Formats: sequence, C-alpha cells, structure tokens
Amino acid sequence: MTPAIEVRQATREHRVGQTAVVALRGVSLTLHRGEHVAVVGPSGSGKSTLLQLLGGLDRPTAGSVLIDGQDTAELPQAELARIRNRVVGFVFQGFHLQPRASALDNVALPLVYQGVRRAERRRRAADLLDRVGLADRARHLPGQLSGGEQQRVAVARALVTGPTVLLADEPTGNLDSVTGERLLDLLAGLNAEHRVALAIVTHDHEVAARARRQIVMRDGRIVSDSHIVSDSRIAGDGRIAGDTARRTGRA
Ligand SMILES: Nc1ncnc2c1ncn2[C@@H]1O[C@H](COP(=O)(O)OP(=O)(O)O)[C@@H](O)[C@H]1O
Ligand SMILES: [Mg+2]
Repeated sequence: MTPAIEVRQATREHRVGQTAVVALRGVSLTLHRGEHVAVVGPSGSGKSTLLQLLGGLDRPTAGSVLIDGQDTAELPQAELARIRNRVVGFVFQGFHLQPRASALDNVALPLVYQGVRRAERRRRAADLLDRVGLADRARHLPGQLSGGEQQRVAVARALVTGPTVLLADEPTGNLDSVTGERLLDLLAGLNAEHRVALAIVTHDHEVAARARRQIVMRDGRIVSDSHIVSDSRIAGDGRIAGDTARRTGRA
C-alpha cells in the first residue's frame, strides 16, 4: 500500500539576505496510514518545517516529499492544494480560525474548496462539531469560545474532509493540562477508530509518551526514530521484560 506520506532526503534551506539558513538537512521518513507519531526536539531543530513539508504547505529545496504517492515538487500549485485538502488535516498552535465566522462555518470552510454544496457542508460540519463535543456551540464566534473549545473547532475543521493524516503543531501548547489531555484523548480516539495517521509536534513529554512512534530532531536532522514494540514481539526475541519497550533505530 502506498504510504500516506513519504519524505526522501529532504533539505529545506531559507535565504536570509546573503546567508542560507538550513532548517532541514536531508531528512527521510515514511508515514503510514494509522500511525501515531510524536515529533520532539529543541526549539529551532526543524520540527515545524518538517510538518509543513509533510502537509505540502511548503516544499523542500532538495530531496522530495510524496503525498499519497504524488511528488509535491512535480504538482502545479492548484493540484497540490487539491491533494492537500483531500489527504491532510492541519492543526496549528494558534488555532487560525476565522474570527467573524461561526464555529460551524469555520469547520465547513475546507468543504467550500472541495465544491461541496451548502446543505451537505453544514450537515458534515455539524457532525464533526458533535464528535468534538461542541454541538451546542455551533453558532458561537471564536471569540465567544474558550481556548480549548477553539482548539477543538480547529480539530473538527481539520477532520471535516476525512483526511488520511492529521498533522498537529504543538496542539496542546496553549491549553491547560486538563483541556490538553481531553484533546489528546480525542485525537487518540480518531487514530484508533478511524485509522487517521497522527503526527504531533510537541514539547510535552506526556504527549510524546502516548505516541507509538517517536521522532527526535536536532539541528535539522532526525537523530532517532523509535517504535514502541508490543509485548508479544518483545517476548518473541526474548530479551526484554515488561509491558512495552522502545526499539530505537538511528536515523
Ligand atoms: N521562513 C524562514 N526563514 C528563515 N529561517 C527560517 C524560516 N523558517 C524557519 N527558519 C529557521 O529554521 C530552523 C528550524 O525552524 P523550525 O522548523 O520552526 O523549528 P522548530 O519548529 O523545531 O522550533 C530555525 O533555525 C529557524 O530559525
Ligand atoms: Mg515549531
């Protein structure tokens, strides 16, 4: 099966005046449907840049990114936008909601670009708001919602198109711990029930610990990419006792 997203030796360089800032240096990774990945690393290590490449919001200056098997470098902008809209949902740290549109209209917006008719858009947006526990907030403007509620609207908007992959950049960064925990439960549920692949950039160790795969970045590189291996597989090679352990591969 085609991986949801494949990154091959991707480098992203920014020109700032005379100097080149290298945000990513030859990063490779494959993200399959149904995976749950945490991306961690110090500030400036390239986490957000990697997420933007994964979602086709940005393109590498060298190497390639394939979304649903299609090379983002070879696609015209409009076609890339179409694939992005179909395959990827993006949750930003600062929500990025339209301040003058209701929660319902914010969630329905990605469907406008897909040419879905109004009644159908409203039906699907209402269904998503219900799933994130905000059915009774549909007519509220973002300013009339708490931070956690706004973030859940952003998650509903990211999911309304039925994406294969949900990319989230520090999704709990602006939330208190209880609200953050609830949001993570919601994401984990989507991952388990609907096999939506999750890639979550985080500073939070507890957030990272919930993922089955952890990618550690440093200076624009992936320095470790580890999977939690299940009990049976551990018993199979007979080396490790305990519930779970991480199998680490140097990248
Ligand atoms: N648009 C840009 N122009 C110049 N430098 C950038 C730009 N975006 C990111 N960078 C640089 O690339 C590096 C990685 O940034 P980023 O991916 O945002 O890191 P992280 O999300 O891990 O904090 C940083 O050194 C940052 O300053
Ligand atoms: Mg960042």
